[in-house]
Amino acid sequence: MQDSLIHLSSAGVSLLLDAGGDDLLAIVHWGASLGTLSPEEAATLAQAAVEPVVPNAVDVPIRLSLLPEGWRGWTGKPGIEGHRAGADWSPRFRTSRVTLDGAVVEPSLVESSAGTVVVEAEDADADLRLVLHVQLTDSGVLRAKAVLRNIGATDYELAALNIALPIPPGAREILDFAGRWGKERVPQRSTLMVGIHEREGRKGRTGADAATVLSVGVPGFGFGAGEVWGIHVGFSGNHRSYAERLFSGVQVVGGGELLLPGEIRLKTDEEYSSPWVYGVYGNGLDEQASRLHRMLRGRPEHPRRPRPVTLNVWEAVYFDHDRDRLFDLAESAAPMGIERFVLDDGWFRGRRDDTVGLGDWYVDDEVWPDGLGPLAEHVRALGMEFGLWFEPEMVNPDSDLAREHPEWILATGGRTPVLARNQLVLDLGREDAYDHVLERITAILRMTPVSYIKWDHNRDLVDAGHGCQGVPGVHAQTLGTYRMMQELKRRFPSLEIESCSSGGARVDLGVIEHTDRVWVSDCIDPLERQQMNRWTMQLLPPEMLGSHVASGVSHSTGRSHTLGFRAATALYGHFGVEWDLAAATEDESRELREWIEAHKSYRELLHTGDMVRVDTSDPTLNLYGSVAPDQEAALFVLASIGRSEVAPLGRFTLRGLDPDRRYRVRPVTPGGAPRGLIAPPWFGQDSNGVALTGRALMTAGLHTPAMYPESAILLDVSATS
Ligand code: DGJ
Repeated sequence: MQDSLIHLSSAGVSLLLDAGGDDLLAIVHWGASLGTLSPEEAATLAQAAVEPVVPNAVDVPIRLSLLPEGWRGWTGKPGIEGHRAGADWSPRFRTSRVTLDGAVVEPSLVESSAGTVVVEAEDADADLRLVLHVQLTDSGVLRAKAVLRNIGATDYELAALNIALPIPPGAREILDFAGRWGKERVPQRSTLMVGIHEREGRKGRTGADAATVLSVGVPGFGFGAGEVWGIHVGFSGNHRSYAERLFSGVQVVGGGELLLPGEIRLKTDEEYSSPWVYGVYGNGLDEQASRLHRMLRGRPEHPRRPRPVTLNVWEAVYFDHDRDRLFDLAESAAPMGIERFVLDDGWFRGRRDDTVGLGDWYVDDEVWPDGLGPLAEHVRALGMEFGLWFEPEMVNPDSDLAREHPEWILATGGRTPVLARNQLVLDLGREDAYDHVLERITAILRMTPVSYIKWDHNRDLVDAGHGCQGVPGVHAQTLGTYRMMQELKRRFPSLEIESCSSGGARVDLGVIEHTDRVWVSDCIDPLERQQMNRWTMQLLPPEMLGSHVASGVSHSTGRSHTLGFRAATALYGHFGVEWDLAAATEDESRELREWIEAHKSYRELLHTGDMVRVDTSDPTLNLYGSVAPDQEAALFVLASIGRSEVAPLGRFTLRGLDPDRRYRVRPVTPGGAPRGLIAPPWFGQDSNGVALTGRALMTAGLHTPAMYPESAILLDVSATS
């Protein structure tokens, strides 16, 4: 192999790769664009990145490859951990072939825009073969994965395969996410010190507490500015993400699947593929998020047709599936402008509460003596789509399935795992269990016109052992779930799937390859959702976030909110309703109708535009919205989420507009003015607003209206020139 440098550059991001000699691929630069590089400049840059040999370290410069290697003197977290009966634990891979978009890379510098580099390498002594895939997408997202093959005669036990990406020394502030049931994606900031900041997900699902995007940036980075480098592991099983700072000042962000002891034992010619590990750079968190949003929106399978306004019946009826009540609910929903009606948990055999029935995917003939067909047909006759809830991976001990097939339950052998929500987990790594669930769901979908599945997953995987020995089964379970989702979509091509997991505990780019939206949280309290939606959008665009208007008193917090605040909060997402409409007053029904109309009129802008979250000077003000890609129009939500020590908060500025165009900014109040609104003079008589250049709006700004806490107003921004 000769020396070669590969410069991928797209959407303002450069990735300069060193595929030198037979060394494993290393990153020279990942971050802001380097412009066009000559071969000499690239070679000089690569050389300039080599660290000096310092006392008391190895006598050669440490070279950090994408899969950090111990034999090179790297003493940070290794890229590969594994062994063959105690040997072959520190492999030295030698690269044999590098391709860029399928063509073999010749020496010197190769310049490309977006592209995929594939590196083939082998350690002939350890009998291991490695293929690295590194991609820079059109939107500037880097993603990488590693595939390891055992070519030896004996088993190779793999404990970890981590991808690591270098970040510059100025990046010292970490932002990642905490969370719990009902309060997902809570941002937390800390300082990157020498050592590892590591987030392990051991729940067998992504987890409400998942790091989601673990970013490290220059101190003080915000939405609009400040360089950040983030990592995301696209996997819904156990996983790890980390940021590491070494004694030498070298820093990386990295991650991979978290393998349980003995979970991956490769026999001769077997291979293991890591999940895609995403690296996302941005000057500010909005730029970082927008690269992810554009990447997702660029996929052929991205949901493109207008996202149907949804009614989910869970908080309206819970397990009380009364035929007449549900028919009435459908009849109230349709004239409101609702376009999809989703029947939640409780429709299948014996399922009168959460202690019984999971796994028995047959329509309950006591509650639904004529099946679900009449309800589904009624819903469709009213002009709505019909959606249905499943929890395919789960089983209640009190179910026919658990009684007939106790051997299908994930367990460590000889004992039953502790229950969670009265349920256990089915082993989808077994073909018989997998086939059974797939065929039951298929049968239901064949007999009922279901176009949408709410796919739930309500417990962590504990003692999730597979087979009679109970060997770790999370890896196979996760892939089994993906396979089933994929197969159902193959069988029912127009089927959409929502990823729900006790609310928002399965939100990651692995499951998003097979699903069309996520349920952000079981908590629909708008004050909480102002935060949870805002931060879930660090990973996913708004059209993929289930965002509902619930009843006036939140079922999970007991707080009361106006319909205006509930609806304004739900507006920027995949809008829906989760409320017993029979309990709504006439005024509330009218108001809700107006909000649904407003959502529909802005839906395209909200679901295709660039997200802007303004760095406001006061934490009680959330200001965010969507700017059309051609900067012709924008819609912002200005939400008061608390009471400040000052009022009325001075001026706010917008972002994302064309500085040289003029825009009219108008307050919009579907359903009526927010509570306690005191309009500033620029609202004008008749709320006609004000016309100013984008530059003025983004530099000097407009005065914030005074409002009661927990209320919001919309700002319509339209170009006039
Ligand atoms: C948890 C989900 O997040 C809820 O929306 C609901 O579907 C329940 N499960 C049903 O059991």
